[in-house]
Amino acid sequence: MTLDVLIVGGGIIGLSIAIELKLLGASPTIISRDFKSAATLASAGMLAPDAEQISDPAMQQLCWQSRSLYREWTCKLENLTGLNTGYWSCGVLAPVYNLENNLPPSCDLNSHNRYWLDGEVIHKCQSGLGKDIIGGWWYPEDGQVDSRALGKTLLSAVQSLGIEVKEGIGAEAILEEQCRVVGVQTKTGLLQANHYVIATGAWANELFPLPVKPKKGQMLQVRVTENISSLPLNRILFMGNTYIVPRKDGRIIIGASSEDVGFTPHNTPVEIQELLALGISIYPQLQDYPLEDFWSGFRPVTPDELPILGSSYCDNLTFATGHYRNGILLAPITSRLIADLICKQKSDPLLDNFHYSRFQTLSPKISSVLTSTKNSNPLLSIVNNTHQTSITDTPLVIAGKVFSSRLMTGTGKYRCIEEMQKCVNKSGCQIVTVAVRRVQNNVPGHESLAEALDWEKIWMLPNTAGCKTAEEAIRVAFLGREMAKLLGQEDNNFVKLEVIPDSKYLLPDPFGTLEAAEKLVKEGFAVLPYINADPMLAKRLEEVGCATVMPLASPIGSGQGLQTAINLQIIIENAKIPVVVDAGIGSPSEAAQVMEMGSDALLVNSAIALSDNPPAMAYAMNLATVAGRMAYSAGRMPMRSYASASSPLTGTID
Ligand code: GLY
Repeated sequence: MTLDVLIVGGGIIGLSIAIELKLLGASPTIISRDFKSAATLASAGMLAPDAEQISDPAMQQLCWQSRSLYREWTCKLENLTGLNTGYWSCGVLAPVYNLENNLPPSCDLNSHNRYWLDGEVIHKCQSGLGKDIIGGWWYPEDGQVDSRALGKTLLSAVQSLGIEVKEGIGAEAILEEQCRVVGVQTKTGLLQANHYVIATGAWANELFPLPVKPKKGQMLQVRVTENISSLPLNRILFMGNTYIVPRKDGRIIIGASSEDVGFTPHNTPVEIQELLALGISIYPQLQDYPLEDFWSGFRPVTPDELPILGSSYCDNLTFATGHYRNGILLAPITSRLIADLICKQKSDPLLDNFHYSRFQTLSPKISSVLTSTKNSNPLLSIVNNTHQTSITDTPLVIAGKVFSSRLMTGTGKYRCIEEMQKCVNKSGCQIVTVAVRRVQNNVPGHESLAEALDWEKIWMLPNTAGCKTAEEAIRVAFLGREMAKLLGQEDNNFVKLEVIPDSKYLLPDPFGTLEAAEKLVKEGFAVLPYINADPMLAKRLEEVGCATVMPLASPIGSGQGLQTAINLQIIIENAKIPVVVDAGIGSPSEAAQVMEMGSDALLVNSAIALSDNPPAMAYAMNLATVAGRMAYSAGRMPMRSYASASSPLTGTID
């Protein structure tokens, strides 16, 4: 069945868009990996573009328009559901401790949306503020909504409008063909629709090479002990990045940290301690209120801190992500603009400022190159020419990047650069690993790497070859990231981690590898560790957040083929991340064998570079990888102890 519009992401943005689409006559379906982890529920619900001092003019417009829609929008949702969203135009008070940096020129003291209150006035206006506060700004047009109540209301509205929400179903990969999305792969199968909307917040980067990262926020909640018919605090207090948000039912939310720690969950004492200290200094009576709850969430942040909204490089794909600190605030305007775009083909000029292409340093878009079916990957050509539904393969997805080729190659050991270029081409590979140290030291063949390959089409996988310890490998990984940036791959955070103290067998150090992997994951790298075929180590590396594991078939450059089959099988069976077999493959039959076992990909260098005719061998490896993968997908016939005639005897004449 082909759906009308498939919305990937069931947070506030996905739900709001679904509602607007439905009201315009479309039939949206939502898939949501886990509603509970959406930033929606973590947010304090501030609607505060003035207090947050949004300075980008287009963003300011977007935020102001959204804030002005809020009352009507929440009323509409409340009427649909009979629930309360807690919308409250309560204003924001931003106290200051000293005038330095806080006081604008006198002509700008009071503008239409903010007013300066001096010490006496501010303390009169709001009793209980910290004694050191000498004045502050009053932002009357800002306000709040109870984001958890809003989340419930949106879910209920979606239900009452008959919109299907498939909760617990995440998108695993997006399938594209000739600039159209042709399906979304999920754990329960392929979903197909006429149009697709990506509203996956901080997780957007897992599906597309969009520069969206998580920025963690921790928060906590206390409750006033006074009678709530006369709340002690009737407005939001906001200072720096700390805010105190009172709810009408007596809860007070205190937020929020702002951390670059990837998707590390949980609350940490150090951040909670800091929030409490800052909160208490602004509003000391907080210290006596009962502490009720802590939580954390992930804001989706882009490099310019602005959202990614509107059309994409596929005709039938729309982006609505990267709302950073303003997802709750921007829900009404985002849903209105995106629904108009999809249903009425009406693109508000404001959307131009938030187009994903502002981040594209590579042209044509590396993403469409990486997912294009018009490349030298024979599997996809075969698939296109025959019965696609029966043999369509899912693409290889590593740390959110989608690759149609499952063969990776390297740049080492070639006789000359031209030969290496031909081989990369013939191999059909989209990922080439490069030894950062060899580039640094201008080892022959690595002097002109920038020009040698087309880095708009090839994804660089910097490796830490030559590093004997975890410390060295970490340092080289950072250099590798810079190297990829210099070549125009701004968002390339991949590193092939090699920690190899032993120069005779070149076997990796499991302890050093695990230690370095853990640290690099925390630093935001997509780590692809080279390991011995050790199932326990593979599991530990997966647990610390590695993007793949790269077990060896036999020692590097030995060409001994598959010597680790039994362990490799266990690794493949247990891995939830791609298994890329690296090292030891000597011939195409071995490459095919490893793929038939169910490896997700292969890395082959020496077997190509050291053959008599490297370009021919590169092509043979390309075909073998594809054949092995196709055979794995097709399913091998069972082995039998006895013969079974190919032509059955039933129905023959005696
Ligand atoms: N809008 C407040 C925050 O993101 O912390």
